[in-house]
Amino acid sequence: MVFTILFIPFYTMKTAIVYKTKHGTTEKVANLIAKKLNKEQVDLYNLLDDSSPELAGYERIIIGGSIHVGNIQRGIKIFCEEYRDLLLDKELGLFICCMDPDEGIRKLEFEGAFPAELREHSRACGIMGGEFLFEKMNFLEKLAVKKIAKKEKTVSEIDRGAIKKFSEALMAV
Ligand SMILES: Cc1cc2nc3c(=O)[nH]c(=O)nc-3n(C[C@H](O)[C@H](O)[C@H](O)COP(=O)(O)O)c2cc1C
Repeated sequence: MVFTILFIPFYTMKTAIVYKTKHGTTEKVANLIAKKLNKEQVDLYNLLDDSSPELAGYERIIIGGSIHVGNIQRGIKIFCEEYRDLLLDKELGLFICCMDPDEGIRKLEFEGAFPAELREHSRACGIMGGEFLFEKMNFLEKLAVKKIAKKEKTVSEIDRGAIKKFSEALMAV
């Protein structure tokens, strides 16, 4: 009698999370997403350290940035332009961190952050809330936040529900 042993390898998707952050909140959110995708291989790339990461070997790419004075970081916009063809060839997740209290404005900020063709191609989109970290702000940032957002001290409003929903949408079979 011949016994055949079948090895069925578990397939894990390789994911890259590419982000920019000013005071560290988007990095925190990127790490929370990586934790949620814990059965998969996830690598994080801060565009400040490496503006041209090698991403050809990944099946899924997640891009995250934060909104400052209505706009996502320029580095994220440049990344989306430069990697357009590659991104359209991968499974994609897009997210922003932001603190505007108005849901309609947060949606507009998301739409302004990423090109329409990437938004349409994406499997998951997330608006993850954010933080005002006074201890990391410079004088002008503090002034702007006090005047416009009417906040006087550090607040953390990271939306863990949105992070969960985003990660589940990516992992759904
Ligand atoms: C000076 C300043 C301007 C900001 N402008 C906006 C804004 O226009 N819209 C918004 O939704 N959030 C705004 N935010 C909130 C940021 O998006 C929030 O602080 C976010 O968590 C920053 O993430 P980061 O630390 O990864 O850069 C602003 C924050 C600061 C400090």
